[in-house]
Amino acid sequence: MDIQQLIATVKAMVADNKGLLAMDESFTTCNKRFAAAGIPQTAEARRAYREMIITAPGLSDSVSGLILYDETIRQQTKNGLSFVQAITDAGMVPGIKVDTGAIALANHPLEKITEGLDGLRTRLAEYAQMGARFAKWRAVITIGNNIPTYSCIEANAQALARYGALCQEAGLVPIIEPEVLMDGAHTLQRCSEVTEQVLRAVFNALYAQRVVLEGMVLKPNMVLPGLGCSDPVTADEVADATVACLRRAVPAAVPAIAFLSGGQSGELASARLNAINLRHRLQAPWALTFSFARAIQQPALEIWKGQEANVAAAQRAMYHRAWSNRAARLGQYSPAMEVVNRDKDIIAEEAAFKTANEVEII
Ligand code: G3H
Repeated sequence: MDIQQLIATVKAMVADNKGLLAMDESFTTCNKRFAAAGIPQTAEARRAYREMIITAPGLSDSVSGLILYDETIRQQTKNGLSFVQAITDAGMVPGIKVDTGAIALANHPLEKITEGLDGLRTRLAEYAQMGARFAKWRAVITIGNNIPTYSCIEANAQALARYGALCQEAGLVPIIEPEVLMDGAHTLQRCSEVTEQVLRAVFNALYAQRVVLEGMVLKPNMVLPGLGCSDPVTADEVADATVACLRRAVPAAVPAIAFLSGGQSGELASARLNAINLRHRLQAPWALTFSFARAIQQPALEIWKGQEANVAAAQRAMYHRAWSNRAARLGQYSPAMEVVNRDKDIIAEEAAFKTANEVEII
């Protein structure tokens, strides 16, 4: 294992206050989102959509790396350039989702286990050879009556740790993603307790599998009340609860924490990431960044609608969301940044935005 190579990749993934864009939806998830937006669910539509994302002008101003799906890493732009090459040429780092999805955990109603360990060593070698430099594996934990169970948490932690060790062996940085879902009516406090329990189990398993903490990225949920919980919560409360939970469970040797958005709107995710950084960035031992899918892509998907004529407008919308999250990493995001006129040149305007006091965290 080349630890220096892993550390260099992590640095590139969080450099210059940028973050990650997850575009690794499986066929099923991507098709579901296309269906909701009235877009045909074909391989060509998925390819064209991913090309729109990868080639968005200026995306690398705010995005350091892109997480691809197995279908996508094998695809090309309409000009015949492989997506991996297009990403690398744009100065971003290509990554790959390597789990094969979450299925029902036997004997544990409503709980899931993520699969994908079989043959993983061989798949990782192939992805590394194709140019991927990091990987992602997502475990999902549901809060409900008497769940999550100890056995569900342990089974998922084991799988994450075994995946992490295999990634590092192959020279890929593992993104370790244990997601406590927002589904349910649980309180902020309950989410905090469960998230802490899950993170402790995950790090115990990572120690047992000898995963090098300096060569990984943690991708957790923010600590949030469930979607069905009526208690109001401010961005500051989310920020404080999230960082308090992480402080109790995540070793300082971990270089970066890249939050998932989990179904929050783009604006809320940016506002909460901003509060996290504004209130805690200078004291936290880890970089606090983003690895969002929906919170960056959703407005662009709705504008694109599968039409070539909408590509430029969709790319501008995506640029804006990515830029907002880079500003949030600096604690410089403001809801006023959402008042954008889509006819204006957002890219030039935001590039002129002065990120004074930028601090390189890693
Ligand atoms: O695994 C989930 C994605 O990487 C993050 O997606 O930001 O839409 O929750 P999300």
